[in-house]
Amino acid sequence: MIHRRPATLPNQEGLAPPLSRSAAAYRDARAVIPGGSMRPSSWFAPHPPYAQRGDGCWLTDLDGRRLLDASNNFFSLIHGHAFPPAVEAIRETAAQGTAFGLPTPYETELAEIITHRAPLLEQVRFCNSGTEAVMFAVKAARALSGRSAIAKFEGAYHGTYDALEVSYDCNPQNWDAPDGNPASVPYCRGTPETLLAETVVLPFGDPKRCREILRRQGSRLAAVVIDPLPSRIGMVPATTALLEVLQEARQRDGFLLVFDEVISFRLHHAGAHSLFGVTPDLVALGKIIGGGLPAGAVAGPAARMAVFDHTQGRPGVALGGTFSANPLTMVAGAATLAGYDEATVDRLARLGDDFRQATNTAFRAAGLTAQVTGLGALFRLHLTLGEIRDYRSITPPPRGPGALAAVHAGLLRRGVLLTPNCSGALSTPMGDSEAALLRQALLEAVAEAEA
Ligand SMILES: Cc1ncc(COP(=O)(O)O)c(C=O)c1O
Repeated sequence: MIHRRPATLPNQEGLAPPLSRSAAAYRDARAVIPGGSMRPSSWFAPHPPYAQRGDGCWLTDLDGRRLLDASNNFFSLIHGHAFPPAVEAIRETAAQGTAFGLPTPYETELAEIITHRAPLLEQVRFCNSGTEAVMFAVKAARALSGRSAIAKFEGAYHGTYDALEVSYDCNPQNWDAPDGNPASVPYCRGTPETLLAETVVLPFGDPKRCREILRRQGSRLAAVVIDPLPSRIGMVPATTALLEVLQEARQRDGFLLVFDEVISFRLHHAGAHSLFGVTPDLVALGKIIGGGLPAGAVAGPAARMAVFDHTQGRPGVALGGTFSANPLTMVAGAATLAGYDEATVDRLARLGDDFRQATNTAFRAAGLTAQVTGLGALFRLHLTLGEIRDYRSITPPPRGPGALAAVHAGLLRRGVLLTPNCSGALSTPMGDSEAALLRQALLEAVAEAEA
């Protein structure tokens, strides 16, 4: 049982109207959980509905309301909820023990699946989250290069490792350094100044300026970390010009290029780097590779991955973790990736392309000031017709933060769940009819918010 209270509760004064089950769950949560919720990114006012169960692309909340789920736990459920092969694998494996202080063949099996899909990824080390994956990739780059500084893109989210939180939430008041380049802005108070000095911030939409910054800073960098389809930068793909600048600078300066494919691995059977035609030095993975359970991984060419090899004495980087490569995640991930073969990747990408195109056409036909960006099955709504090139094009959000929140609420009322910033992903149980439902709900919710 997720909830502990009766279906309807009197409000504080004991008067009608009764609280919904979700409202009651949230009231209870606030007493024992700061903010009443475990994840800032999935919270929205007055409180989110509480989930009861999921089935494919549908989710049922505690109050029995069915929602078309295009949030998919923040893009981590490629097959939607309770994918039968993953559930079966988890059930069978759990009955034999959930974690051991010993390796299991399951980890080799998932590593083989990933390395067979993506030829560049010759070896894999698992961890427990995307945050850990990017952190270990950065530590590996530092150990391999003997340098400490890194570069990342303004506005990009790579999880909660403090070096990569820099400038992910900056604003017009603090984002310009005195030299006119992007400043290194801490997310948390108390972030060490030294850490800020070691994190160079690059503008995603300005390859020319990136080239200039890298000319000056490249030789002190251990790594440049890039998500090729960064959701917080508007979910617009990295341009060829930008990727060329990075590759040119890498060749000159010898830093490592780290691709954060925690979300974008799904874009191509062999990973996003294959779609973008880039050969990164290390790739961080997460989300779908865990089949719905906590997962992360660093992967790359064997020569790079040797930095994690602990069998020849002290490794360059100690990648451990009590629950890293736990059998449940490994079997769920294997079942999930087996069901995400090349044909399925292509079908979903086509569905996503058609969805975005049809939605943008419908917005235009209705005279609405809105567009969806994205690639493959990933999309994000913006309440502007302006070009979206980088974080600054959508910060502050066009028409204010309340406008997107109103669309999100309107979608929920229509039975559709997106992430609070109105991004989403199509999942394999979806087809044309679900895409059409989603499009219609978006049209209505945007029109309502504009009115
Ligand atoms: C691009 C990217 N990298 C890293 C992360 C962190 O992953 P996790 O939430 O599993 O720690 C996220 C999470 O949304 C992400 O979107």
